Amino acid sequence: MPPKVDILKERVKHLEKELRHKQLIISSIHEIGKALSSELRIDKLLPLIMEEVTRIIDAERSTFYVVDHERGEIWSKIAQKAEISEIRLKIGVGIAGHVAKTGETVNIQDAYSDPRFDPSTDQKTGYRTRSVLCMPIFEPVSSKQKTKPKILAVIQALNKKSGVFTHEDEELMASLGAQLAITLVNSKLYLSLEKRVQELNLLYLIEQEASSTEKEDTLYQRLIQKLVNTFKVEAGLIAFFDNHNKTFGPYYYANIPESDIKKLDLAADLGIERHVLSKKEIYYTNCAPHDPLYLQNQPSGLKLKIDQLICAPLIINNQPVGIIQLYNKVNKNDIFLKDDVKILTSASRQISRLIEARRLREEKIKAERLATIGNMLSTIVHDLRTPMNNIYGFVDLMRDEEDPQLRNEYADIVIKQIGTLNNMAHDVLDFAKGKTNILPVKYPVNKILDDFRKLFENEIKKQGYQFEVECKASCMLYVDPDKIIRIFMNIMKNALEAMDKGGKFSIKAFDRGDEVEFQLSDTGKGIPPEIKNRLFESFVTSGKKEGTGLGLAIVKNLVDQHKGRIEVDSTPGKGTTFKLYFKKL
Ligand SMILES: Nc1ncnc2c1ncn2[C@@H]1O[C@H](COP(=O)(O)OP(=O)(O)OP(=O)(O)O)[C@@H](O)[C@H]1O
Ligand SMILES: [Mg+2]
Repeated sequence: MPPKVDILKERVKHLEKELRHKQLIISSIHEIGKALSSELRIDKLLPLIMEEVTRIIDAERSTFYVVDHERGEIWSKIAQKAEISEIRLKIGVGIAGHVAKTGETVNIQDAYSDPRFDPSTDQKTGYRTRSVLCMPIFEPVSSKQKTKPKILAVIQALNKKSGVFTHEDEELMASLGAQLAITLVNSKLYLSLEKRVQELNLLYLIEQEASSTEKEDTLYQRLIQKLVNTFKVEAGLIAFFDNHNKTFGPYYYANIPESDIKKLDLAADLGIERHVLSKKEIYYTNCAPHDPLYLQNQPSGLKLKIDQLICAPLIINNQPVGIIQLYNKVNKNDIFLKDDVKILTSASRQISRLIEARRLREEKIKAERLATIGNMLSTIVHDLRTPMNNIYGFVDLMRDEEDPQLRNEYADIVIKQIGTLNNMAHDVLDFAKGKTNILPVKYPVNKILDDFRKLFENEIKKQGYQFEVECKASCMLYVDPDKIIRIFMNIMKNALEAMDKGGKFSIKAFDRGDEVEFQLSDTGKGIPPEIKNRLFESFVTSGKKEGTGLGLAIVKNLVDQHKGRIEVDSTPGKGTTFKLYFKKL
């Protein structure tokens, strides 16, 4: 055979081998890509990657470490005796740690003769490492990026089955690495997406609690429990802060022994609390016993041993109103990370808003109550004038009256009117305390008319008007007699103001089935048509110098409180009749 053919044959053989090799790479990458694209959770990805790498590189085992720059560690999950366990190594320690630190590829034939090798894992697992191929995976970079690409992960393959790792293995691993980098970035994105979902979930939980829990204490109690669960910590507390006195309290806490709460002794002018309140930002430490701020005000004798602590301020209108503290991650390997800071920041903002909304609502209720008391006061002051005039009139009469029996009668009336004034004062106080202010009793209709006549007949006649009372109903009502007198008094006052001297004011009572009807009539000028539709509204007045327009509003309110009705008939120039209806007893 001519030598040329030999050479050609040789070349074909070589090309075939190369082709097979390339095919292997392509199909491996394809395989790995397929597997990876269906799984974005990093803890599920790791075993998949390691299995593929081991197969392609023809190694005994391989480990895929994710670089955690925040903690200065590389970590992985490995399957050991049907159990998944986590390994964490410091960046810089061991071969994988060295690769994570320097970004160099390490390919060694005999691990034990290399000073960078850390045999402690072998000692723990009983495995014997011989050859090692270890390579960094850099983050994918765009051509525009100027900064050095970050090391995302480290792949390490151990013990090439057929001896040592070749240059070809390095190339193969590098192509895999490029593929893995993309997957890893995706999964990191997914991880932050997952955190975001977790955060939204917590905000949703907080909002849900707030809308379903009426009682303040219960709400904060539940919120702190929710935070403790979400952040997977041992215990937590919400402490309110009184900015005026610079003191903490009340406290709402979860999983903290009662006795520890007293010992915690939070102080606004020391340590972590001072930092958080004055800087209005979150502070955290993963090693409290060595944290200088924590040590400034370290509580002693606690049952809860505080190792890790995160503390967030609650702020309303740029003023601190409290703090949230969470203590010790439940999981031994867990620590407070930037993600916790992010989530707790938005949770504490949300809780602050919620506290503010509750406070505003309380203030609004108070303000409304005050406004109502104000209204009430103005009605009382309005109504005080009539009995006071009356007292004045009777005292005047007493002065000139020589008949001791009549003097006694006047004195009784004065005393009764003073009693009325007193009751009005009580009305205001009762209302301020939230009590309803009508006090109904069983009362005969004719007695109401009689009471009124005794109180006002004199005054009406003295002013030059006629007055008539007629009772055609002999039944009982369930009313507050003082209030009925106030109703009549206000209607009477308007009636007198509408009449010229000599006019007649009358009160009559009629039996109307299951109701009693009172008619209060005058012979005055009639109600001005322009205000007739708004007669019972506050501040509606017409044709009076000193009218406040409250008289009939008070009347309507008192009638409503008795569940009665009021109607009015009025003819200009002829007179007006108010009709009141109350249910019989
Ligand atoms: N019997 C009546 N005859 C004619 N007009 C009346 C009569 N009663 C009420 N009015 C009209 O209705 C208006 C409202 O009465 P209301 O008692 O509410 O207030 P006011 O009498 O004006 O003020 P205040 O009661 O504080 O003195 C009166 O200003 C008056 O014009
Ligand atoms: Mg009036």
